[in-house]
Amino acid sequence: MNQKKMSMRKMNRVKNQMILLTVVDLLAAVVQIKTILGERVNKMGTAKELKQTVKEKYGEIAVKNQTGCGCGCGSKSNKIVGYTVMQDNYTNLEGYIAEADLGLGCGVPTEYAGIKKGDTVVDLGSGAGNDVFVARAIVGDEGKVIGIDFTLEMIGKAMANKLKVGFDNVDFKLGEIENIPFADNAADVVISNCVLNLVPDKRKAFAEIYRILKPEAHFCVSDIVIKGELPEELKKSAEMYAGCVAGALQQDEYIGIIKETGFNNVQIKKTKVIEIPDDVLKEYLSDSEIEKFRNNKVGIFSITVVGYKN
Ligand SMILES: C[S@@+](CC[C@H](N)C(=O)[O-])C[C@H]1O[C@@H](n2cnc3c(N)ncnc32)[C@H](O)[C@@H]1O
Repeated sequence: MNQKKMSMRKMNRVKNQMILLTVVDLLAAVVQIKTILGERVNKMGTAKELKQTVKEKYGEIAVKNQTGCGCGCGSKSNKIVGYTVMQDNYTNLEGYIAEADLGLGCGVPTEYAGIKKGDTVVDLGSGAGNDVFVARAIVGDEGKVIGIDFTLEMIGKAMANKLKVGFDNVDFKLGEIENIPFADNAADVVISNCVLNLVPDKRKAFAEIYRILKPEAHFCVSDIVIKGELPEELKKSAEMYAGCVAGALQQDEYIGIIKETGFNNVQIKKTKVIEIPDDVLKEYLSDSEIEKFRNNKVGIFSITVVGYKN
């Protein structure tokens, strides 16, 4: 009888322990879910805030008609503002319209985009239309060029430029790159100039590019990437100096995302070093680190990349 009581007690103890364990597990799971959700909400918050800042910055640039600050001047207090850091010279390109050139690019995507007469081209983050009008000169009357931008003031400026030149096969649409207002499998070529570094969700951006391209069609984008580890403070300073650095990824990660999206034959067609003056570098790097930086092993680069849809 005593033994029976004892084993009953033992069983109850085990049962209670199991219940306790389940409750602990459950609590741990709840904490984990809350953390994951919290992180996600935080990320969504920062992505939303980031995009709002980008919109405000480019809205201001469009309205004030600022030019010549590469990807955009980061700070008004920056004494180097006004120096063209990244922008290539567009003035000799066919289709060039001075009013559309706000000096915000970091390459010439149309140079390697293989655009043909009659093509339908989509330019993501089209700004005032600089690359759209260059692409229009290549596609001719039979083709179509559509610029997409999420800054209302930029779309307004681009539309005013379109009206000035009177092309009816050029259009500008207000919309986000993470949700491109364009049909599936409909573009021959997607181009973009110094924009994707500003998009918080680059995977979504490349997935959208993939979606809108026709089968076997391709993209050509110019963008800012980083190679090697840059001190955080130097990155901040470079952002003020040249813009478009804060959201830039490591080159390998950038190319990795493109390949993971499903693009093949991904090639970097051009690499350009973004020159940062020695006096800026000296504040953050030792002499040997500066040498490494100057030997192009570590630094900030503009790359022009192409990739093909299957
Ligand atoms: C550095 S400017 C480049 C403008 C233009 N490509 C050029 O070279 O003149 C970046 C442009 O991308 C737009 N942009 C940034 N993030 C975007 C997003 N997520 N969706 C749509 N447009 C975006 C901005 O409004 C801005 O006009």
